[in-house]
Amino acid sequence: GENMLWGGRFTGGLDPLMVSYNESIHFDKKLYKQDILGSIAFARANKKGGIITADEFDKIEKGLQAVMQEWENDSFVIVPGVDEDIHTANERRLGEIIGKEVAGKLHTGRSRNEQVACDMRMWLRDELRKIEGHIVTFLQVAADRAEREVEHVMPGYTHLQRAQPIRWSHWVMSYSLAFASDLERLREVVKRVNKSPLGCGALAGNPFNIDRDMMAEELGFEGLLWNSMGGVADRDFVAETLQWASMLMQHVSRWAEDLIIYSTAEFGFVRLADAYSTGSSLMPQKKNPDSLELLRGKSGRVFGQMAGFMTTLKGLPSTYNKDLQESWEAMLDTVKTVSDSVQIATGVLATLDIKPEKMRAALDPFMLATDIADYLVRKGVPFRETHHISGRVVALSEKTDTPMNELTYDQLKSVDARFEKDIAEYFDYERSVEMRSAKGGTSKESVLEQIKVLRQILNA
Ligand code: ARG
Repeated sequence: GENMLWGGRFTGGLDPLMVSYNESIHFDKKLYKQDILGSIAFARANKKGGIITADEFDKIEKGLQAVMQEWENDSFVIVPGVDEDIHTANERRLGEIIGKEVAGKLHTGRSRNEQVACDMRMWLRDELRKIEGHIVTFLQVAADRAEREVEHVMPGYTHLQRAQPIRWSHWVMSYSLAFASDLERLREVVKRVNKSPLGCGALAGNPFNIDRDMMAEELGFEGLLWNSMGGVADRDFVAETLQWASMLMQHVSRWAEDLIIYSTAEFGFVRLADAYSTGSSLMPQKKNPDSLELLRGKSGRVFGQMAGFMTTLKGLPSTYNKDLQESWEAMLDTVKTVSDSVQIATGVLATLDIKPEKMRAALDPFMLATDIADYLVRKGVPFRETHHISGRVVALSEKTDTPMNELTYDQLKSVDARFEKDIAEYFDYERSVEMRSAKGGTSKESVLEQIKVLRQILNA
């Protein structure tokens, strides 16, 4: 313990297992850059406040840039048992490069508690903005496909049973608009992630009246965390990211599941590109949708990180506790999972082949039963009655083993006298989808309007 940066009052050595149990360097070194930029901003603000001289600042800044270089060209040597985390490692190395006399002034008025929150917030902000870009790309691919392929009609399902005909593009847009909500939520989350904790100190604030606004601006933060205790305690920015990611992955998993079903031989609506499929080591004929299965499966891991970290946070007492170090791996893993998943989903969607003839072949006249009921509604019959009448048409079709659209006019008349010759026009899938022309429906115009709404969200 006495070799550690905080070792002043410690005498005995640490249990070796405690050293590795406690260290976070093996994952938080990933944020060396944010840590160094945060330190430079802090030193600059201390120079402005007259806490360090201009000369000392120059030495600190140059020294920190030298440390950054070492990380960048992979020559930084982590000292096991000493470099507990990225903050202590960078400061230890700075001392070796510029001398402990000046390096020792960097941490004046500062705590690792504000430092770690600063590093994580900067990194997460930048990563979430990259993910935002990936989601926008995915949705552009989706919007383009939906527009290009709007003519194709396929079965829409409830309970995985054939329900009503829909446009393929209506299916595409059903998920796209859910992802667009994820995009809007993400833009909200980033606002709260991107607040500066620098100047919060260990918990009570900065004793040298440091210019917090100046540091925040230098590091690209939009605003401050306004209570120093909250500033160091807050990992809601991680929790909210994990919750946001869980919602997104829930959508990803359902989208993937639909496509897995649609790519079976039994459905055959879509065919996955080779780039996103794998073969079987045993069965030569197999082409498995591994990309989609992983997309479906990864949701479990993201929900797990979310639930796990919420459990870690629950009941913690005020301000910093080492439990908060558990936020790191949940954050790193979830960000990578989500970033990769959105990009894979984009590749899958961009290269997917659709089989419109298979979609059409899966349509079934029974899917027009609602339209038959609606036909009589238009003749003034109450819907509850027409529902029964249409049901009897379905029953007659089943009993006589005749597809519903092949029943004779007389057979229909025998079910209900109000059927007239124009009923024939209703046995038409195109007509059925075009009838759903209210906003949000599956008619061509309604689907094209959805695409327009989506593009507005993308450009917001
Ligand atoms: N590695 C620590 C973390 O990730 C840094 C903060 C340590 N602060 C402290 N007072 N021990 O949370």
